Amino acid sequence: MIDYLQFVSETPLLLPDNGFISCTSPSNIALVKYWGKRRVQLPENPSISFTLSACKTETILRYEKLKTTATDFQFDLLFEGKTKPDFNPKIQSFFERIEAYLPFLKAYQFTIETSNTFPHSSGIASSASGMSALAYCLMQLEKKINPEITDSFVLQKASFLSRLGSGSACRSIEGPITIWGVSNDVPESDDGYAIKFPYQFHENFADYQDTILLVDKGEKQVSSSVGHGLMYGHPFASERFQQANQNITRLKDVLISGDLDTFIEIVESEALTLHAMMMTSLPYFILMKPNTLSIINKIWEYRKETGSKLCFTLDAGANVHLLYPEKEKNHVKDFITSELVVYCQKGQYICDKIGLGAKLL
Ligand code: PMV
Repeated sequence: MIDYLQFVSETPLLLPDNGFISCTSPSNIALVKYWGKRRVQLPENPSISFTLSACKTETILRYEKLKTTATDFQFDLLFEGKTKPDFNPKIQSFFERIEAYLPFLKAYQFTIETSNTFPHSSGIASSASGMSALAYCLMQLEKKINPEITDSFVLQKASFLSRLGSGSACRSIEGPITIWGVSNDVPESDDGYAIKFPYQFHENFADYQDTILLVDKGEKQVSSSVGHGLMYGHPFASERFQQANQNITRLKDVLISGDLDTFIEIVESEALTLHAMMMTSLPYFILMKPNTLSIINKIWEYRKETGSKLCFTLDAGANVHLLYPEKEKNHVKDFITSELVVYCQKGQYICDKIGLGAKLL
């Protein structure tokens, strides 16, 4: 069954012969987490995230019209200049999912050249930036084919397509704050795509910083799709989905009012709840490492001693995202270098901050 009929394009009469589109799209970090999905890639609860700025994927999509439409998708993928056969199945299934919405896909031979600004094995999920960058390029091609579509349609459909590649990727198209999934408190919110936070957020969050401490750069033992699957039949699933809904409502008010103490409470509780869900699923698993916990304890001590508004969040891995107001930048930098860097693999961390989403190059 095809849903979201507003995104189904008509088969175009005229297609450009060849060309290329180049864009970037960033990663994002969820404040209220998405963990648990329904088919196909629909979230069990709404989530909200900061779009990042420095951690991003750059993609060049080259297209060449075939003499006759192919029976299967024709694409080559180059990751950092080299072929990467293990990425092909992901692109193949992404194209299968989005074909109903982009009827020109089989009319082209594509070459997808992609690279990340962050190290590949850093444990930072590249699927959000990678899938959103490709979806955004494809929407720019659709815009060339059908120039009448509006910019807001391009953004909404790019988010919709990104979601079909990797759920959280739909939150990377716009920024600095996006919401994905229906929340009764945010009338325009939708399960099919993310929207920009539709209220004026408080200046406390302007230029909010995210320093990512690279605790463990190894391959994840459990992929996020397996993790989402373990929310089926999870003993705390319905309470968790309810809690996430309440946290969206609370966080919406906090983002408007600028109440940083409540921000910290919601964000840290969300991070720990995400990992609590992993630890209480069957099979259970732990993605945090001893150094993750050491960092968390250091943050709590630091906050107590200094009154800082620094807090942490985690995604599905051992790395720690430090979130803090721009005005604390210098103090937090000193804290990281004197107290936290020892817990980072090879002393590595990435300084990022909130950003605006995908853009054409
Ligand atoms: O988009 P996925 O399927 O990789 O899931 C991402 C899940 C978390 O990063 C743990 C949470 C989130 O909302 O981004």
